[in-house]
Amino acid sequence: MVPTFRVRGGVGGAYVPPADKSITHRALMLASVAEGVSRVRRPLATGDCVSTRRCLQLLGARFTDEADGVVVDGVGLRGFCELDAENSGTTTRLLCGLIAGQRLFAVLGGDESLVKRPMGRVVEPLRQMGARIEGRGSGRFAPLCFLPGDGGLKALDWQVPVPSAQVKSSLMLAALRGSGPSTIRGKIASRDHTERMLRALGVKVEAEGALLRVHPVERLPAFDAPVPGDLSSAAFFVAASLISGASLVVRDCGTNPTRLGFIRAVRRMGAVVSVQEDGTSLGEPHGSLSLTPGALRGTEVGPDEVPELIDEIPLLAVLGLFARGVTRVSGAAELRVKESDRLEMIARMVEGLGGRVQVGEDGFTMEGPQKLSSSAFVDPRGDHRIAMAAAVASAGIPAGVRVTGFDCSRVSYPDFVRDFTALGGQVE
Ligand code: S3P
Repeated sequence: MVPTFRVRGGVGGAYVPPADKSITHRALMLASVAEGVSRVRRPLATGDCVSTRRCLQLLGARFTDEADGVVVDGVGLRGFCELDAENSGTTTRLLCGLIAGQRLFAVLGGDESLVKRPMGRVVEPLRQMGARIEGRGSGRFAPLCFLPGDGGLKALDWQVPVPSAQVKSSLMLAALRGSGPSTIRGKIASRDHTERMLRALGVKVEAEGALLRVHPVERLPAFDAPVPGDLSSAAFFVAASLISGASLVVRDCGTNPTRLGFIRAVRRMGAVVSVQEDGTSLGEPHGSLSLTPGALRGTEVGPDEVPELIDEIPLLAVLGLFARGVTRVSGAAELRVKESDRLEMIARMVEGLGGRVQVGEDGFTMEGPQKLSSSAFVDPRGDHRIAMAAAVASAGIPAGVRVTGFDCSRVSYPDFVRDFTALGGQVE
C-alpha cells in the first residue's frame, strides 16, 4: 500500500520523540567493551541500532532485554571475538575503531548502499596507528577485513579531512587502545556524543576548538544510563508543526548543542523555540523543546553549520518550499555519500512535490513560497530521511503526499506513522 499523508488542521500538541539513534549506537558499543554489567535504558531498539546490537553480539557481548531497556554484559576493551556482519554506516565506521585495537580477524560488510560509502577516511588513519586492514579498492570500501595485531595501537596525530562525527568517533575509540594520547584535528566541529560519553566514563578527552586529545585507558567501567530522544527524529514534527502553524512540545529529547543546528535554523526562519534542559545522562543533556510557529522566511546555511544539522537538510528543503524568500544550503557535499546521494534525492523529492530547487555540487537554492502539486508523489528510493521529509510536506499540501516504499523509515523511526497520526496527521 502506498500511504497518502494528509493534514486537516494542524500538526501540534505534546510529543516525545523516539530514543536517539546516535547515542544508542554508542551506548551499546561502550557497554559491550565495558567491564561488567551495564544497563542501557530506553534505547532505540530497531533498524540500525539492531544492526549494532547484532554485530556486538557476534563480537561476544551478551544482551538481555528487560522491561525498560537492555542489560549488556561487557567483555572489556580486549574481549571481542571474530565477526562477520552486515551493518549501517555508523555501525561500520565506529566498529572499525573499536576492532582495530583488538587481536582478532574480523570482516565487516554491508548492504548495497553501505558498500558504496567511503571507508578510506577511517581505514587510512587506523592503518597509521598500526592496524592491519584489507578491503575492497585497497581499503576504500567495505567489506573490510581486520587482521590480528598485537592488541595495541600507536598514538595518532591526524587531521580529519571531512567534518564527520563518525570518522572522529572511530578514531577516538581506537585511541582508547593507543600507546599514548592521540590528537584528532578537525576544521569544523561535529556532534560530540563520543567525547561526552567517554568523559562520563572517566576517559580523559581534552578539547581545544575542533582539536581533541584522547588518552588511552586500560578499562571502561560499566554504566546504567537512559538514552534521550532523537532530535533528528523530532525534527520531522518540528517542521510539520511550523508548516501547519500548530505549536509543539517535545519532551525527553536530547538537547546536545552540537545537534541543535536545525533548531537554530528554524529560529532564523521565524519559529520561536525554547529549549529547557532537565538533566544529563552519560554526559548527554536532555530536556524539552517548546515551539511556537511564526510566518516562515527563508534562511542561509553555510559550511560551518552543516555538521550540526546534516541529517535535517532534507527538512530544510521542505521548509524552504513554504518560506518567503530564498533558502540556501552550501558546504553540504557530504550529503552525496550518505545512505543515498541525498542532494540528488532532495532534487527528486522537491520535483515529486511539484516544487522547484536548484541543486549544485554542495547544496541547493530555492525560493518560496511555492505552489505545489495536488498529486504529490515521492519515491525515496530506500532513503529513510527523504521518505519522512516528504511525508512532512503534507502539512502544507492539503491534497496530501503519497510516499512509496515508506517502510525504509524503519531504520531510524519505525513509529513515525503512529506519531504522525497521534499529532494530528492522517495516513490512509
Ligand atoms: C552520525 C553522524 C553523521 C550523521 C549520521 C549519524 C553519528 O554522519 O549523518 O546519521 O552517529 O555519528 P557523519 O558524521 O559521517 O556526517
